[in-house]
Amino acid sequence: MLFTKAFLASLAMASSAYGQSTVSSASSASSASKTSTASAAASSSALAVCSSTLTASSQADLDTISSCSTFKGDIILASPITAAAINGVQAITGSLSVVNITTLTSLSAPQLGNVSDTVDLRILEALTEVNFPSLTQASTLNLVTMNKISTINFAAGVSSLDTLVVSDTSLTSISGVNPTKLTTLNINNNKYLTALNFSLTYVYELDISSTANSVSINLPKLTSAHNATFRDASSINIANVSLVNSTLSFVNTTVKNIQLPKLTDIEGSLAIVSNSQLTNISFPLLTVIGGGFQIANNSKLASFSGFPLLETVGGAIDFVGDFDNATLPELSTVRGGVTVDSSSEDFNCSSWNALQSANGIRGDSYVCKAATVSTSVAIASTATASSNSKTSSAASATATGESSSSSSSKNGAVGSYGLESSLFGAIALFVLQFI
Ligand SMILES: *[C@@H]1O[C@H](CO)[C@@H](O)[C@H](O)[C@H]1NC(C)=O
Ligand SMILES: *[C@@H]1O[C@H](CO)[C@@H](O)[C@H](O)[C@H]1NC(C)=O
Ligand SMILES: *[C@@H]1O[C@H](CO)[C@@H](O)[C@H](O)[C@H]1NC(C)=O
Ligand SMILES: *[C@@H]1O[C@H](CO)[C@@H](O)[C@H](O)[C@H]1NC(C)=O
Ligand SMILES: *[C@@H]1O[C@H](CO)[C@@H](O)[C@H](O)[C@H]1NC(C)=O
Ligand SMILES: *[C@@H]1O[C@H](CO)[C@@H](O)[C@H](O)[C@H]1NC(C)=O
Ligand SMILES: *[C@@H]1O[C@H](CO)[C@@H](O)[C@H](O)[C@H]1NC(C)=O
Ligand SMILES: *[C@@H]1O[C@H](CO)[C@@H](O)[C@H](O)[C@H]1NC(C)=O
Ligand SMILES: *[C@@H]1O[C@H](CO)[C@@H](O)[C@H](O)[C@H]1NC(C)=O
Ligand SMILES: *[C@@H]1O[C@H](CO)[C@@H](O)[C@H](O)[C@H]1NC(C)=O
Ligand SMILES: *[C@@H]1O[C@H](CO)[C@@H](O)[C@H](O)[C@H]1NC(C)=O
Repeated sequence: MLFTKAFLASLAMASSAYGQSTVSSASSASSASKTSTASAAASSSALAVCSSTLTASSQADLDTISSCSTFKGDIILASPITAAAINGVQAITGSLSVVNITTLTSLSAPQLGNVSDTVDLRILEALTEVNFPSLTQASTLNLVTMNKISTINFAAGVSSLDTLVVSDTSLTSISGVNPTKLTTLNINNNKYLTALNFSLTYVYELDISSTANSVSINLPKLTSAHNATFRDASSINIANVSLVNSTLSFVNTTVKNIQLPKLTDIEGSLAIVSNSQLTNISFPLLTVIGGGFQIANNSKLASFSGFPLLETVGGAIDFVGDFDNATLPELSTVRGGVTVDSSSEDFNCSSWNALQSANGIRGDSYVCKAATVSTSVAIASTATASSNSKTSSAASATATGESSSSSSSKNGAVGSYGLESSLFGAIALFVLQFI
């Protein structure tokens, strides 16, 4: 598919850049390690072996460092290694890099507890077995493009991580990876991953999607996030979230409910788009949305009654769908424009016209469209009657035809939620990692 192809291309770019920077240092390091092995087991040469980058293309290469409880540098695996066991090493002060090795079928590091930088497992199409039974700590864990492996042994539990990326794998579970704080959590394109259950309390950036369209997401301890995007989930429990520092999006899920009983403040935008089974939204304490507010194309959502306290929207409002009731009882200020467009016969614009009459809409456009012709005419006359010039031009566009429904996208704040944006995110993420 488009996503997979372009995503792989981005990986190819990233990993070839990565390859260039490591190959030269790696080959000199590898000859250095051969020399020191040859010069036998004096303790000074053992020290040298433990503190330079190792490129290992065979088990014999890996065995040269089995006496290094702490390995100071990077360990890079390379073809034609088939089964790799990193015995003896308890800590790596650099990275463990296992990237694009078509021969590798199994990987284990029985004693490895701590990797200061990245555990980078990518593009490993023959890999069927991975054992990291002692690993508790790393900075970044990448599990990317591994299509033959269904589970990974993290028996000790990886509790300290900064970045977790799980992408394009056939993993059915990532149990054993359970950090409490993360800067980045990016899980996408894993067809067989049906449940995600983390004790996470804080995440800066969260982006979860899955082509399985049935992942059940359980983050019961999460209390705040900078931004979070959920796609393709079948259920989402983030009931303890009280603050979202930037954007919160639910796109293309099959969830029935979106409930955030403790959330008081979204400093950026809120988007609820194309959730085919959604019937109930509940944000009982939410008073402020700092950016745009979009509820669009949720085909079973009849009422937006889940925002009883919402007073202020800092950006534009864009409501599109087949809803009967879009009344937000406490809403008094919208700093951007407003587009409300329902195809339901039961919907009318009275609450929005009232907000507009009270000068609650500060943006330069107000459009409210209802399904019935009579209501539509009534809106146009109401809006024109309350004439300021910008409003009446928007209103006359509504009265004369179909032209105005797309105007909301110009009002900024609410983003576009096509595949491109998540793809761009993924590329940006990988580029950042390899700078
Ligand atoms: C993987 O390595 C092969 C050579 O072994 C190379 O041709 C290919 O471009 C690499 N793929 C990526 C995505 O880096
Ligand atoms: C892991 O390594 C880092 C950096 O060397 C160190 O600060 C930390 O204490 C180590 N943690 C454990 C559990 O060994
Ligand atoms: C999630 O994990 C917690 C503890 O790690 C466990 O108690 C709970 O049963 C799990 N929930 C699901 C739905 O797997
Ligand atoms: C989160 O915010 C960062 C920085 O503003 C942005 O680059 C990234 O694309 C956002 N991610 C999501 C999932 O919205
Ligand atoms: C929710 O967060 C509060 C702290 O804000 C914490 O005391 C509570 O245990 C959390 N609830 C769950 C289910 O983790
Ligand atoms: C919110 O985000 C801003 C920058 O984007 C940051 O300075 C601030 O500390 C964040 N606040 C919280 C509570 O995360
Ligand atoms: C929703 O998912 C379908 C199928 O995966 C895709 O074709 C469509 O573009 C997605 N829509 C959005 C708004 O992401
Ligand atoms: C929506 O969820 C809220 C909170 O759980 C509940 O009080 C309300 O009855 C639900 N509404 C519908 C229509 O299911
Ligand atoms: C909602 O659906 C309409 C018609 O299918 C489409 O034109 C519009 O782009 C969709 N809006 C969003 C935000 O997905
Ligand atoms: C529409 O929603 C508002 C706000 O939740 C509620 O007060 C009102 O009773 C609803 N109207 C109808 C006709 O259901
Ligand atoms: C408009 O709809 C609201 C419910 O959303 C209802 O309470 C009100 O009576 C309706 N007004 C008219 C004129 O139909």
